[in-house]
Amino acid sequence: MAEAAKLLEKKKLDKEDLRILMGIEIGMKRSKYVTVNNIKFYSRNPIEETLYRLKKVHKLDLIVRDSSKNDIAYTLNSIGYDVLGLHTLVEREIINQLGPMIGKGKESDVYGCMDDNENIYALKIYRMGRTSFKNIKMLRSFLGNRKHLSWLYVNRLAAKKEFDALSKIYELKVDTPKPIGLNRHMIVMSYLRGKELAYYQNLKNPSKIFNKIIKQTKVIYQKANMIHGDLGEFNIVVDNKGNILIIDWLQWIPSDHPNAKSILERDIENVCNFFQKKYHIESNPVEIIQSFKKK
Ligand SMILES: Nc1ncnc2c1ncn2[C@@H]1O[C@H](COP(=O)(O)OP(=O)(O)O)[C@@H](O)[C@H]1O
Ligand SMILES: [Mg+2]
Repeated sequence: MAEAAKLLEKKKLDKEDLRILMGIEIGMKRSKYVTVNNIKFYSRNPIEETLYRLKKVHKLDLIVRDSSKNDIAYTLNSIGYDVLGLHTLVEREIINQLGPMIGKGKESDVYGCMDDNENIYALKIYRMGRTSFKNIKMLRSFLGNRKHLSWLYVNRLAAKKEFDALSKIYELKVDTPKPIGLNRHMIVMSYLRGKELAYYQNLKNPSKIFNKIIKQTKVIYQKANMIHGDLGEFNIVVDNKGNILIIDWLQWIPSDHPNAKSILERDIENVCNFFQKKYHIESNPVEIIQSFKKK
């Protein structure tokens, strides 16, 4: 990601280079590698321009060449795709600067970033397929019967799914990230300067935070019919003042999902167990869940 930001910052790429990358992106819907002819077609460039630009972006390490076939063909690598997403977010004036990495999950990288008015946001970039395909099964229902499953498409879909979830929940005025922008595999959202609940040695007011988490989970369940699905000390960011942010909504499920009961139980038990073990806060998950079902 830093590579992509650097290339854009140093203005190493022209509009025509980006057009070539977008041409490959379009072709990758159908197959991993896209032939030069198709790249020419999708980017609507003459052949000389296409060849020249391909050589340039290849040298910049944004695309990978398939040398196993007679027809020369290319595919975007993750830096090439980052360039496209980042460029669009900057062009739309959603952000203008990338900051340091603030988190790294199994399926994403998260960076700080800034807009023109120096507002700081979090930028989450999906990297599914990098180490695990854990969530791909879950996305299957959205992917349909596509024969060719592009990592590009999977990550774009994941970002959209989380962004839509954030948009839905944000209306409830609870402590979840405010969705700011979406492009390709990237989400821009509000940022809470803090750290995951798990990494606090000692919280000042743990029972207040515990109650806040349970209360908000309940509001989200009752008003949006949504269950987080991976709630726990790693997906709750807390700052020094005791503000919280419940993050990481990709795997959310609706409350009428066939597994809703057990997933809600797991979410609540995770939170209760964490606060019981670390802060000796006693609670009754069964009663909490019962209270969820009464409006
Ligand atoms: N909006 C945010 N504000 C502050 N930190 C965030 C935010 N979103 C993500 N992070 C940080 O990035 C890490 C990974 O983000 P997360 O959404 O949980 O991704 P993953 O699905 O990879 O676990 C989090 O554990 C947290 O440290
Ligand atoms: Mg997480």
